[in-house]
Amino acid sequence: MRMIDIIDKKKRGLELSKEELEFFVNGYIKDEIPDYQVSALLMAIYFNGMTEKETTQFTLLVRDSGDVVDLSKIEGIKVDKHSTGGVGDKTTLVLTPIVAALGAKVAKMSGRGLGHTGGTVDKMESIPGMETSLETQKFIDQVNEIGISVIGQTGNLAPADKKLYALRDVTSTVNSIPLIACSIMSKKLAAGSDAIVLDVKTGSGAFMKTLDDAIELATEMVSIGENAGKSTIALITEMDIPLGHNIGNILEVEEAVETLKGHGPKDLEGVSLELAANLVYMANIAKNIDEAREMVKGAIADGSAYNKFLEFVEAQGGDKSYIEDFDKFDKAAIHHEVKVDRDGYVYEMDTEKVGNASVILGAGRETKDDELDFAAGIKLVKKTGDEIKKGDTIAILYTNDEAAVKSAEDLVLEAYSLSDEKPEMEPLVLARVTKDGVTKY
Ligand code: URA
Repeated sequence: MRMIDIIDKKKRGLELSKEELEFFVNGYIKDEIPDYQVSALLMAIYFNGMTEKETTQFTLLVRDSGDVVDLSKIEGIKVDKHSTGGVGDKTTLVLTPIVAALGAKVAKMSGRGLGHTGGTVDKMESIPGMETSLETQKFIDQVNEIGISVIGQTGNLAPADKKLYALRDVTSTVNSIPLIACSIMSKKLAAGSDAIVLDVKTGSGAFMKTLDDAIELATEMVSIGENAGKSTIALITEMDIPLGHNIGNILEVEEAVETLKGHGPKDLEGVSLELAANLVYMANIAKNIDEAREMVKGAIADGSAYNKFLEFVEAQGGDKSYIEDFDKFDKAAIHHEVKVDRDGYVYEMDTEKVGNASVILGAGRETKDDELDFAAGIKLVKKTGDEIKKGDTIAILYTNDEAAVKSAEDLVLEAYSLSDEKPEMEPLVLARVTKDGVTKY
């Protein structure tokens, strides 16, 4: 077999066989196929796409390029959730204790912040003492004991994806739906859970800017998951507006805890509860999705989800007294209010710019080695749809870096579009994609 023939076949829009995909993935990981030939194939895939069969086979080969986590020693149905990334997205911190409190097993690996989007592992590490890297045995024991553990990615999961992603990044082939679907699902399948709920974001702060693209990506990921024998559902959720009011690590933990206590912002609560209900349903804890929704609300109302969060923090070495009393956290030295100079409404927000402003303030990394300032971030006082009056504060910036304030403030002001008109609001959850098809809300 020759790589040039595989490139030529895909260039002509034909379906690659399992053997051809195997030759390419295995050859590339062993450094037997050069980057320039893989780049040509990626560009041919970008233009000509892949069939469902091809995408599934490709994903399974990428999954098998490294370790596949064995969670068989955990009793019960193991559930996982993945978000394609957003600003203010702290749903993992809200939904994992809810579903664990209801009896599902959460053995989850999460990521760090990437670009303008935050990451669960960074948020967890903002809680003093909280460990995010555990020995495999401890990870498994903790899930058996309390139903939940969330750690940073360990081991050598999908190394072929790491290599392919780095090449896609420099060959303008990142935003190809089959390549994104393969990249995300290879890692989710390697992480070993039985049921996966995918939160595919759409809007100005997301990878997929339109609903149609988000549905296409979700449909491909659901087919890959189901073809690999995992129960998989995707929700398409709104990322034209940051989720909740708080962006930044400690600020987001605080808002997640408020939501677990039943006092969270409606958008964060709505998305988190709907994701949680789907997981509860997939874990066979509820007979149908409506019953799952009721159970999820019940776990907030009776305090069991909040108590599970405290148990989770403690089990991973975190000091739960900080969760019980947020005043104990170190505060940012600078609190700067961003004000508007007109009346009207917030018409829309450029969510990516808000995320970038929080990175400038210290909540995210501009380079791989940057240290985070856990106290840094933004509280959005006004969001899309809110009425404003001249002189109102629309956002509060928190930082310990005085030099960052001006550029972060400029970016936040640029991110807000103001108007005399009140905008029409989109629903938060736009569609649900299962193996049986797409339901738009
Ligand atoms: N996230 C991933 O893990 N891979 C992609 O290709 C895009 C987003």
